[in-house]
Amino acid sequence: MILSIESSCDDSSIAITRIKDSALLYHKKLSQESQHSQYGGVVPELASRLHTEFLPLVLQDAKAFLGDFSGLKAIAVTTEPGLSVSLIEGLMMAKTLCLGLQIPIITINHLIGHFYSLFINQHQCTFPMSVLLVSGGHTQIIEAISPTCFKIIAKSMDDSFGECFDKVAKMLNLGYPGGPIIEQYAKAYHNSATYTQSLDKDSEKTLAPLPLPLKHDKTISFSFSGLKNATRLMIQNQLDSQSLNDELRAYICASFQQAAIEHICDKTHRYFKTTQIKNFAIVGGASANEALRTAIQQICDTYHAKLFLAPLEFCQDNAAMIGRAGVEEFKAGHFSDIFECDISPKTTSKYFD
Ligand code: KG4
Ligand code: ZN
Repeated sequence: MILSIESSCDDSSIAITRIKDSALLYHKKLSQESQHSQYGGVVPELASRLHTEFLPLVLQDAKAFLGDFSGLKAIAVTTEPGLSVSLIEGLMMAKTLCLGLQIPIITINHLIGHFYSLFINQHQCTFPMSVLLVSGGHTQIIEAISPTCFKIIAKSMDDSFGECFDKVAKMLNLGYPGGPIIEQYAKAYHNSATYTQSLDKDSEKTLAPLPLPLKHDKTISFSFSGLKNATRLMIQNQLDSQSLNDELRAYICASFQQAAIEHICDKTHRYFKTTQIKNFAIVGGASANEALRTAIQQICDTYHAKLFLAPLEFCQDNAAMIGRAGVEEFKAGHFSDIFECDISPKTTSKYFD
């Protein structure tokens, strides 16, 4: 078995994965969301301190599950990219365990970890596959060519998709993380009488007009800072004539979500036009968004591609995906030097072209 640790941001998570069939045996995560929520985003120092507190608790629970650690063959740990002060907590725990148990360490790139979330207790590993990664830190299209070759095809020039949801939620005093909350408000708006009636009449605008980012740009890049700013201005304009209530919030959330997804789809369409790829996936925390899943499914249908999705519980950061990636590394004999390996806030993995 491999014990894996994920602490790249604000989740303290540990998993145990069986090597021979990649089965996930144990997974636990202590999220710090409630502690960061009052600040409208992750506070790095607080995240670091909470990892120091939470990781040992989860490890104790994992030990109680296994009885003892004698069956562990390696420790897999996220070492990049992420918040340095958070990554270091996981790496220190991993190194200590490896030294004590005399087993090797496997360092995992978090983005590759998200890719392997597709293969936790489902699907066979499939290559080549193109992957839309939408998280709090990244918005990218990555081509997974083989287990050791990943190519970044497109990325965001500024904010990420998930981060933009977090910022808009903060503008609306909705707490953190913003993605799931905005999605709920958007759903409420689409189910509301105001929306369905205006659809019937067909004359009224049902959503606020927001600019489609990089509309005339022919490259496959993403950008969310302009949309974020346009949403902020729209909120200000609305507040000139009315106070912020749940109805207005729902209208803003639905309008913003629609524009953000339209931008992702616009660029994904452009990407499909350049490739013959038949396997496509969405991973990362924001891949849980139902409206995004539906929109990307439609694009995949148009281009006759199969869409792969991770189980909902493994979209957000978790150690199960790190363990699943760790199994591939273990089988390939890819171990790191325990005294040399270190964390990095940015991707340095040799697997990225
Ligand atoms: O992958 P993840 O857990 O952490 C990073 O690696 O960044 O992604 C977290 C991000 C947050 O920005 C969160 O707001 C967003 O994913 N997110 C969503 C949804 N659920 C989580 N964004 C849009 N819709 C959702 N349902
Ligand atoms: Zn992540």
